[in-house]
Amino acid sequence: MRWRCVMAVRSVLVTGGTGTLGRAVVRRLLDEAPGAGTSAGTDRAPAVRVLSRRPRPDDGSAPDCDWAVGDLRTGEGIDAAVAGADTVVHCATTLGKADVGATRQLTEALARRPGGGAHLVYISIAGIDRIPLGYYRTKLAAERIIEESGLPWTVLRTTQFHDLIARVASVQRRSPVTAALAGVRFQPVDVTEVAERLVGLAAGAPAGRVPDMGGPQVRDHADLTRSWLRAHGLRRAVLPVRLPGRTFRALREGANLVPPGGPGPHGAGPGRPAAGTDPGSGKVGDGAEEGYAGGLGPAGERRPVGRITFEDHLAAVTRGRRP
Ligand SMILES: NC(=O)c1ccc[n+]([C@@H]2O[C@H](COP(=O)([O-])OP(=O)(O)OC[C@H]3O[C@@H](n4cnc5c(N)ncnc54)[C@H](OP(=O)(O)O)[C@@H]3O)[C@@H](O)[C@H]2O)c1
Repeated sequence: MRWRCVMAVRSVLVTGGTGTLGRAVVRRLLDEAPGAGTSAGTDRAPAVRVLSRRPRPDDGSAPDCDWAVGDLRTGEGIDAAVAGADTVVHCATTLGKADVGATRQLTEALARRPGGGAHLVYISIAGIDRIPLGYYRTKLAAERIIEESGLPWTVLRTTQFHDLIARVASVQRRSPVTAALAGVRFQPVDVTEVAERLVGLAAGAPAGRVPDMGGPQVRDHADLTRSWLRAHGLRRAVLPVRLPGRTFRALREGANLVPPGGPGPHGAGPGRPAAGTDPGSGKVGDGAEEGYAGGLGPAGERRPVGRITFEDHLAAVTRGRRP
């Protein structure tokens, strides 16, 4: 198997490297390679490998790096995929319960390979311990597998990606009205900034659970939906829908938000407003000015905050600046 030979001492496997976030992580690793090499004390950059269930596309769309074919559900190809990697950024998701088995396949393959384990960096979701959604329980179980794997690990939880908010509106584009969750606020974050943070974490020492990351604005779902409609030139009424159940109550209570400047991973609780959030502007307070890059203390006490707004994201998509 061939690594993209940009650095001898660091090699990074990106699971889910073909997905929304994984593509951004791979791009960031390849773009930032010389910098990452320098901060690691070498002038060489990390070797990068994508894990996918499908062979490398031959239409020129694949990044210029190594490619491993494997399936985390079955374990097929995973031993070969992890061979030689000293860091794994785990972005793959089956979007369901199978994520638990998939994460176990990955940790076991890393643990049994000759030469020991690798630094496992995992992307998770803010509020998964407070919102009783089935997929969130799966993410929590996957986090536990990583924590108990005996491997060196780092887990970053973030809020919803802009892409997800956009997708929820997009699937309704043919409907005469567009539904939005009544009373629910989101703090969407851009995947390029999450990727930047993950690459920074991957280049550093294993850090355990690091402070959650969110986007620069806390906004009503209906408001975000109206923005999406405007950006796509669609004139539709937005219909706020109040859904029953504990999951939607937790969302209405803000359990999915990550206030900046909090005490660390466990600072936010359901029902507590996002500290530093100006309800008028929807801007997240001091963290937004500092940004995530400069806002972190040595132990990552402050919550990182992205700078790219939902409108910035929509404009980038419209201009074709996003894949
Ligand atoms: N979306 C959000 O708002 C959000 C927010 C916070 C955190 N996250 C987390 O971020 C991660 C990435 O999300 P995303 O939206 O980028 O996902 P995505 O676009 O749906 O991509 C999923 C990736 O997983 C890979 N995959 C699926 N099944 C696999 C299997 N059996 N074996 C190996 N690879 C498999 C796919 O690769 P192939 O199809 O090429 O095999 C694909 O690259 C997830 O863990 C998610 O929970 C998402």
